[in-house]
Amino acid sequence: MAETPVNPQVPVRTSRVDSDDVQGLVRFGYKHHTEAVFLLLRVREAQAARAWLAGVCVTSAVEMNPVPDSTLQIAVSSDGLRALGVSADIVDGFSQEFLDGMAGDPSRARRLGDEGPSDPKYWAWGSGNRVPHCAVLLYALPGCLEARRLAIEAQCAAGFEVLQRLGTTDIGPNEPFGFRDGISQPQLDWDLAQPASDRTQLEYTNLSCLGEFLLGYPNEYGLYTPRPLLDPSRDARGLLPRAAEVPDRADLGRNGSYLVIRQLRQDVAGFWRALDRYAAGDPAERERLGAAMVGRTRLGQPIVDTSAATLNDFTYRADPDGIRCPLGAHIRRTNPRNADLPAGAPGILSRLVRTLGFDAAARGRDLVSSTRYHRLLRRGREYGAPVSIAQALAGTAMETDVGLHFMCLNANLQRQFEFVQNAWIISNRFNGLHDESDPLLGNRQLGAGGTPSDGFSMPQPAGPARRLSGVPQFVTVTGGAYFFLPGIRALRFLASA
Ligand code: HEM
Repeated sequence: MAETPVNPQVPVRTSRVDSDDVQGLVRFGYKHHTEAVFLLLRVREAQAARAWLAGVCVTSAVEMNPVPDSTLQIAVSSDGLRALGVSADIVDGFSQEFLDGMAGDPSRARRLGDEGPSDPKYWAWGSGNRVPHCAVLLYALPGCLEARRLAIEAQCAAGFEVLQRLGTTDIGPNEPFGFRDGISQPQLDWDLAQPASDRTQLEYTNLSCLGEFLLGYPNEYGLYTPRPLLDPSRDARGLLPRAAEVPDRADLGRNGSYLVIRQLRQDVAGFWRALDRYAAGDPAERERLGAAMVGRTRLGQPIVDTSAATLNDFTYRADPDGIRCPLGAHIRRTNPRNADLPAGAPGILSRLVRTLGFDAAARGRDLVSSTRYHRLLRRGREYGAPVSIAQALAGTAMETDVGLHFMCLNANLQRQFEFVQNAWIISNRFNGLHDESDPLLGNRQLGAGGTPSDGFSMPQPAGPARRLSGVPQFVTVTGGAYFFLPGIRALRFLASA
C-alpha cells in the first residue's frame, strides 16, 4: 500500500490533536504509576467481549492533575480483530506485519532474531493458539493495582479469558543488568510545528514528526502512513474522524499506533560473570566493558561525552571511529544519532560532496540509514526478582526469571521496530562492523555464509581494535506480539464493527 502525500491544499496546522481521543500511553510513560500489570486476553464470547470494549473507561492523553490512581490502555492484535468479528476488508487495511503477527512466519522470526532458544516454539505466549487477542495495560499508584486488576478481570470475564498476566516489578530507574534506563526518548511534535517534510534538517534532532508515532498525521517523509480508511457509510454512528488527506474517508487509524510487546528474559548472572572473565577479575575494567557494551555508564552517563550537559544531549559526530563509544554499543546501534547526510558544513558544494560519499570521514564506513525514520517510543517495564551484581558474581543468584517486558510504539512496524531489531540489533554487519551483533541483545546465531555474530570490538586510539570473542547470549525472547493501540473512538468503532 503506497503512502499518501500531504495534500498541499490542507494546511497541516488545522489537524489539531484530540488528546482525549489518544490513549495516554502515547504521551505518558506513567512513571508515577510504579505498579503495572499487562493482561493478555483471548476472546471467549465475541458479543460479550465487544460489549465490554464498547464501554470500558480508557485513559486518554489529556493531562490530569492530580494523576489518577490507576490508568487503563487497550490494544488489539490482528487475531483479536478477527475474533471480535471485525469485517475482513476492514482488518485487511492494517499493515502486513501487523496482519502476519510477530511469530506468524518463520522468515520474520529469523529476521527478528527469534531463533535458537528464542524460537517462538518455546515461547510462553505469542505463538500458535497462544497469540493474545487483546492486551489490557494497567498502571497504578503504589497500593492501587491489585483491586483494579481484580475488578477489570471480573468485568471482562464473560467476554475474555486471561491467557497470561504479565506482572512487573518496580526496581527503580535501572533495568535488571543494573544500568539506568528510560533516558532517551524521541520528542513528539504534538504542536505539529515541524514542517511535514523538512529537507533542510541536516543535523540530528530529537524532535520527531507526530506521524512517526500516531497514524493520521504526516510522518518524517511528509506522508501519511497507510491505515484503514473506510467509506463513511461503514461508520453509521459517525464515531471516526475523517482522514486529513482524504476528507471523504473515515479514518480508523487516526490517533492510533502500533504497539510491540516482547518478553525478554535477562541472564543477569551470565552477563556480569562474562564481563568479569573478560576483565580478568578487575572491577574497574569490568565496569568499563559493561559501559562500552551499553554506551552509557551504569549511572546513565553517555561514554561518548562524559561532560554532556544532560544525559541525552549528545551525538557521535566527534567520535566517527567509535574510539570513545564503540560503534556496536547498544545505544549507538539503536539510535546512531545521525542525520540524512554525514555531518559537515552547510552549502551546496559541501552537501554534494557528502551526498556522493567523497567526504574523508565517511569513506570506508557504511552509511547507516538516517535515524529520523527509525525512532521508537519505548514503554517497557521490568519483571522478576532483581539480582544484584554482587550476587551475580558470587554465584549466589537463584535461577530466576527476570527481565524486561519490552514495549514500544511506532506508526510503521516494518520501518521502525522491525528495521531497528533486524538491521541494527541482530545483523552481524552494521556500520562497517562484521562478526558481531548487539552486545546485549544478539542471539549469537551464525550470520550469512556461516559468519559469527558473537564478537564485540572496541576501537583503540592507536593500533587495532580490542576484540572480545565468544560473547554469550544474555537475552532470550520468551513471548511477543504486535498490537494496534487504537484511538479511543476507533476502539468504540471496532467494538461495534
Ligand atoms: C533486555 C533487553 C534490553 C535492555 C537491558 C536494554 C537496555 C538499555 C539501556 C540501559 C539503555 C540506555 C538508557 C536509555 O537511553 O534509556 C537503552 C536504550 C535504548 N534501547 Fe534498549 N535495552 C533492551 C532492549 C531493547 C530493544 C529490544 C530495543 C529495540 C528494538 C531497544 C532500543 C533502545 C533504544 C532505541 C534506546 C535509546 C537509544 C538512544 O536514543 O540513545 N532496547 N536500552
